[in-house]
Amino acid sequence: MTHDSNFLPLTQRPAWKALHTHSEQVKDTHLRELFAADPKRGERLVIEIPDLYLDYSKNRITDETLRLLIRLANECQLRERIESMFNGEAINSTEGRAALHTALRAPEGARIMLDGVNVVAEVHAVLDRMSVFAEQLRNRQWLGHTGKPIVNIVNIGIGGSDLGPVMAYEALKSYSQRNLTLRFVSNVDGTDFVEATRDLDPEQTLFIVCSKTFTTLETLTNARAARNWCLQKLGDEQAISRHFVAVSTNAEEVKKFGIDTDNMFGFWDWDGGRYSMDSAIGLSTMIAVGPNHFRAMLEGFHAMDEHFRHTPFERNMPVIMALLKLWYNNFLDAQSVAVFPYCQYLKRFPAYLQQLTMESNGKHVTLEGANVDYQTAPIYWGEPGTNGQHSFFQLLHQGTRLIPCDFIGFYKSLNPLGDQHDLLMANCFAQTEALAFGKTEAEVKAEGTPDWLAPHRSFEGNRPSNTLLLDRLTPRTLGLLVALFEHSVFTQGVIWNIDSFDQWGVELGKALAKKTAGELKGADEPQLDHDSSTNTLIRRYRRFNRG
Ligand code: F6P
Repeated sequence: MTHDSNFLPLTQRPAWKALHTHSEQVKDTHLRELFAADPKRGERLVIEIPDLYLDYSKNRITDETLRLLIRLANECQLRERIESMFNGEAINSTEGRAALHTALRAPEGARIMLDGVNVVAEVHAVLDRMSVFAEQLRNRQWLGHTGKPIVNIVNIGIGGSDLGPVMAYEALKSYSQRNLTLRFVSNVDGTDFVEATRDLDPEQTLFIVCSKTFTTLETLTNARAARNWCLQKLGDEQAISRHFVAVSTNAEEVKKFGIDTDNMFGFWDWDGGRYSMDSAIGLSTMIAVGPNHFRAMLEGFHAMDEHFRHTPFERNMPVIMALLKLWYNNFLDAQSVAVFPYCQYLKRFPAYLQQLTMESNGKHVTLEGANVDYQTAPIYWGEPGTNGQHSFFQLLHQGTRLIPCDFIGFYKSLNPLGDQHDLLMANCFAQTEALAFGKTEAEVKAEGTPDWLAPHRSFEGNRPSNTLLLDRLTPRTLGLLVALFEHSVFTQGVIWNIDSFDQWGVELGKALAKKTAGELKGADEPQLDHDSSTNTLIRRYRRFNRG
């Protein structure tokens, strides 16, 4: 057994043990004390890069905490692992693949070799094809089967083939071409398709069927519904080529479905679904905002890639954000993380982050297949501010749980309306202040509150948050923001020694659903071999549907 700390299990690493001891010493320290002891804390514990400012001073950490967390990152060989990712090594070990999403935004002319091929050249070839297609649609030159221009674009996909495109479309709506209608269908619940298409004319509608594997039940079911919907009105199989395009890595299945591979935009197995909004999966985004804005978004992603790859950990935004979350998760027993974009355009950002963080790091075994003896991904959730303030913020302020929060705000609004942006941001800043510093019983009583009511009206504080400030929401700043979280997730995965790029946990449910679908359908009573609960639920459902 080696004593080299590089090979020790996580909880036996010197930095991990030191963090444990350290957490006992600092866990009761209040942010009030930390700020009082260092009047410049709010100026010191910040990181600024072009277009993005992170204030992490309102965290329950000391300089020693940061030092130990960075030591832990070093002990876990984070620097080497970052290089492995950028160099295209097969870091997704359970699937034997690279995780090369950073190649999707590498500038034209860059070289990243994988199996003897420069993948950047392939990426740009697809981007160029996407651009031509997007411009044709935007200029009303892509005509439907009956000669009318396509004006409605419906993206069919789920998970990474939906959440990124929807989030980006909503986020960049202000830059979108408003005479195009964009819709998104993901759920196998027929309601999703029916509601998304009820006011659309098939003659002027194009479906983008997005699926990395092109075998996903929900997507193929919805794609078949779309096909029927089109053919009902257009009555001619020839129509499909004008009304359907596919985004996939699986040309075989695309062909089998009946979409001409000339109408297919490819991507690669080295790009995971939840890391693919900047690949051809973002075709709907490009159609909505145009190729130039899409490329500006890629530049934002790339700027964060460069920052992550080359900046010392002490000033590295994704690394610091990852380590802070790890601190609460593993040493202060926090179970969840909340994200609050103070920006209505980012309303789908929390949902997007849920897949990114929880599908990536919701793992219980190490890369070597051993059970972990520490917590991995926390539960990620959130809502745009200020809406959340009037629903669940009560729990954040006075509940019993520790929930670290990320607040995201912009200096400038894309829709200045009176003083509303000032009000929005005043709320953002006020919440972080209230969470951190609270209001003591003594302060409450001093304001005249009777003794019996004072406990109810006081705020303990010491509730941590980060504040991310950006200039304004643009394609570039969106790219920066998404890449920031991508790399934060990766950093945590490295420390937890898990595979952040597989998702075996979704397979069992998929297999059982396939079996159950057969049992729900047939006219004859099926032989059921589930547990007594599932058997009864199936029988009951059948009784109501099959009489
Ligand atoms: O079931 C989970 C998942 O595999 C996600 O990882 C993925 O983003 C989603 O399904 C959709 O997969 P596909 O793009 O292959 O249809």
